[in-house]
Amino acid sequence: MSETMKGLKRTHTCGELGAQDIEKEVLLMGWVARRRDHGGVIFVDLRDRRGITQVVFNPQHNDQVHRKAEKLRNEYVIAVRGTVEARPEGMVNPKLRTGAIEIKAGELSILNESKTPPFAMDEGCEANEELRLKYRYLDLRRPPMQQNLILRHRVIRFIRDFLNERDFIEVETPILGKSTPEGARDYLVPSRVHPGKFYALPQSPQQLKQLLMVAGFEKYFQIALCFRDEDQRADRQPEFTQLDLEMSFVQRDDVLSVIETCFTELVPAVTPKKRIRSPFIRLTYAEAMDRYGTDKPDLRYDLHLTDLSDLVAHCSFRVFSQTVAEGGKVKALVAPGCGGYSRREIDELIAFVQNFGVGGLVPIALRDGALKSPLSKFFSEGALTALLKEAGAQEGDLVCIVADQPKKVAAALDALRREMAGRLKLADPDEMCFAWVTDFPLFKRNEETGGWDSEHHPFTMPKEEHLHLLDSDPGAVLADCYDLVCNGVELASGSIRCHLRDVQEKIFRILGHSPENIQSQFGHLLEAFEYGAPPHGGIAPGIDRFVMLLADAPSIREVIAFPKTSSAVSLMDGAPSEVSPEQLRELGLRLR
Ligand code: AMO
Repeated sequence: MSETMKGLKRTHTCGELGAQDIEKEVLLMGWVARRRDHGGVIFVDLRDRRGITQVVFNPQHNDQVHRKAEKLRNEYVIAVRGTVEARPEGMVNPKLRTGAIEIKAGELSILNESKTPPFAMDEGCEANEELRLKYRYLDLRRPPMQQNLILRHRVIRFIRDFLNERDFIEVETPILGKSTPEGARDYLVPSRVHPGKFYALPQSPQQLKQLLMVAGFEKYFQIALCFRDEDQRADRQPEFTQLDLEMSFVQRDDVLSVIETCFTELVPAVTPKKRIRSPFIRLTYAEAMDRYGTDKPDLRYDLHLTDLSDLVAHCSFRVFSQTVAEGGKVKALVAPGCGGYSRREIDELIAFVQNFGVGGLVPIALRDGALKSPLSKFFSEGALTALLKEAGAQEGDLVCIVADQPKKVAAALDALRREMAGRLKLADPDEMCFAWVTDFPLFKRNEETGGWDSEHHPFTMPKEEHLHLLDSDPGAVLADCYDLVCNGVELASGSIRCHLRDVQEKIFRILGHSPENIQSQFGHLLEAFEYGAPPHGGIAPGIDRFVMLLADAPSIREVIAFPKTSSAVSLMDGAPSEVSPEQLRELGLRLR
């Protein structure tokens, strides 16, 4: 039977009482995290989001209350009145903030009972994720999940304060709007008032923040929910949160400096054990692809690729020479200290890279002063030594060489680089290694249509010195855009935007939009550019990914209160769900 709160007022939380409070009369409320019966004396760990306090029910002190405490089970909600006492010698728990004291219970009210939870509610919950998502309100009651959401709150609060101090204005933009292309499918909302017409949920507030610049706001930000119907991964959700930011009268480095300063101050403020490198590393897209095979390299460790193509272009090993002749690349990654790998271990590495579409991997092992490699048949010792020198290999290392078309080599060696760093534990888990990647191409080829797609999004400004190439050689145009990466995760993207109607229109045309399509999709933006649009640029860091890294979480689902599964389902409430025939009729929709 549960009791009412009448006459009960909490005096303290479960995380604050200490030696200074001894002898105080207190009233605590919270959940029973654990109940132990020690030879007639009952100990209860009482939990709320601030911590845990030990409560003691001793029959010699109060028999009636002790008998009531026998009914307590995990997750019951209770109120306890009692006296703060020092724990007996040897029972002090220095790991707990309240570990020096306990409450001698004089009164107990059971405010609500609880069924046995479907999984253990302790720190290291081993329940599978589906069960955790179905009972998310219980999962979120667990201290590590509470810490994640509190960390998220502190991150957002820091950002708001930081930008507020720098004269940014927070503006909300609509959720029901017109689609902005960000490379995913839109979530659509049918209009009841206008049958056959749809709103799109924003993939990002991109066009609206640009229109706020046209409106003269100069420095805008928003903690913005974005919606994208795309394949889910550990760092992707159908709805996620961006710090969306835009500035007028700025150049690239002005935008980068705001985020770099903010994050440099934020990380130590919210996670003191994390280390960051300052200033952030900078590299161009071309450098990142060449050295790491990816535009989001984990730079906590220095493994890098070397290009051996020139050295092997005319060698007698045809796999190499032919690849180079056909426009491919021959690149190497040195695995430090792996020169002793067995035949089987090397075969495993070969199978590993084959998963990424390359034919295989050619090893050179340096061990006990000797060289072991299938290449020995094709290369003189001098030529092999030259390869090793170029690759930067040393005694004890294993050189892994891959030859194929550039994209495939990059994908395979990027994956191998991450694999070897994992095996060799090269990444410091307490480091946040930020890097700016700049100068991406403006366009990328669409393999299916043969046309051009945006590398970032269509509102990105080409580099001024490349404007003249838009007509003649679009593939060679670099953009004034940038990504922020951290520990191998793309954290943010942004760019200086087109603010001139003619440049923006030309880009839409290169992307294959017909004049009618340009007018219907983007007419409002192009028209706005005719009313004094200032030069402007911005960026949008993903909040979920940032908090995931700060919290050392394996996926962004761990730092989102109510996330969806990888198939975009909310297991707790069953969304998406069917709707009634009346609702469909009202919306003018019929299901096939
Ligand atoms: P972009 O599409 O690169 O750029 O997104 C910016 C950042 O948002 C995060 N992000 C996601 N996080 C979780 N789940 C997703 N599905 C997801 N998609 C993106 C990432 C990413 O770096 N309008 C532009 C920004 C701009 O140009 O100012 C944009 O949205 O951290």
